[in-house]
Amino acid sequence: MLCFHTIEETRNAIKLARQEGKKIALVPTMGNLHSGHIKLIETARKHADFVVASVFVNPIQFGPNEDFDAYPRTLEQDSKKLSEQGAALLFAPSAAEMYPNGQQDQIRVGTPVIANALCGADRPDHFGGVTTVVSKLFNIVQPDVAVFGEKDYQQLAIIRQMTNDLCFPIEIVPMPTIREPSGLALSSRNGNLRPTDVEIAPLLHQNLNTYKNKIITGQRNFVELEKEATQILESHGFKVDYFSICDQRSLNRASAHQRELVILVAAKLGTVRLIDNIAFSV
Ligand code: PAJ
Repeated sequence: MLCFHTIEETRNAIKLARQEGKKIALVPTMGNLHSGHIKLIETARKHADFVVASVFVNPIQFGPNEDFDAYPRTLEQDSKKLSEQGAALLFAPSAAEMYPNGQQDQIRVGTPVIANALCGADRPDHFGGVTTVVSKLFNIVQPDVAVFGEKDYQQLAIIRQMTNDLCFPIEIVPMPTIREPSGLALSSRNGNLRPTDVEIAPLLHQNLNTYKNKIITGQRNFVELEKEATQILESHGFKVDYFSICDQRSLNRASAHQRELVILVAAKLGTVRLIDNIAFSV
């Protein structure tokens, strides 16, 4: 597997692959790779001949009091895993390579309305940081396809819209969430959970399932259901940012007659912020 830290070397290698007629896939990550990320690589390999993975802990998508410094950085192990999975190229740039004029003076890619609620409500610059870095990665790699996880449901929706609105000629491939046997969604942040919280964390997914079933069996007072679910999670020690029953397309709060639903949750255990979601039709 090729491994580059510069845009120039990455572009040159991809140019050669394209000249050989290879179809290119991109899997953007922030590293500390787990089986969820590895599944994205596997999926990318089914769609393309030359899989590029990026590992970059993107400073501009973290808020001032968020966990940028504490975010796990494990490039050596990541590189080994990617190589074993048959990725063709790892692009692992520095912040200076991605933002040579500094982070403040970097032109940003704007975000659509769906970025304002849910995770965007508490993290006002987060999705602008994501759209900016993903646009840059799209322009550096110019992939035919790019694979993103449904675990970050709102992020996936924003990236789909960005790809359409900015006419990137890239197919966005979604990947279902990979979970622990307990139901806990795999996340690079799970390793930072306190030992006592490891047992509590799976309740997040269990709760989503419980409320999905309540809705499927006819309960329609979404405001009450959200309140009840939040109280249950808080009684177990979660600090809930949101537990929202939304329309899958708009990500607005769903009204009782809507049929294509997704429940999204974000909650903290100690300092670790976990997110999860469950999409379903009624
Ligand atoms: P990161 O959190 O490293 O996630 C990289 C990709 O892996 C995202 O598409 C995410 O949705 C997917 N992913 C994470 N956990 C998953 C799981 N349990 N099952 C399936 N897919 C999973 O998301 C980011 O990085 C960044 O915001 C990024 C898009 C790279 C921009 O910096």
